[in-house]
Amino acid sequence: MAKITVPGQNTFEVNEGTKLVLALEDNGIDILHRCGGKAKCTTCRVEVIEGEFGELTDIEKTAFSAKGIEGQYRLSCQVFVRSDATIKPMMTVNESGLDAGPRPSED
Ligand code: FES
Repeated sequence: MAKITVPGQNTFEVNEGTKLVLALEDNGIDILHRCGGKAKCTTCRVEVIEGEFGELTDIEKTAFSAKGIEGQYRLSCQVFVRSDATIKPMMTVNESGLDAGPRPSED
């Protein structure tokens, strides 16, 4: 199990290999995933404060460069929990007033 911390919201444990966006949502963290995990919307992006999710994938590079996003961000619909991490969702239902979006697939 890995411990995921979202400062000011919650800390919880999930199995390694869980898609990050689902780990967050299923543990009560408010996060958008407007395109349903297709790496198109970037609304599921999180800031990685601590922890490791591997190299930025090509699909994330493409999505971030299309939107002009730079920094310590990952698309939570494209990465899987590997070990303990502290992360911050950048876009939430609460702040945006938008519907979260379709549930991304597990794989
Ligand atoms: S980029 Fe749209 S849900 Fe991840």
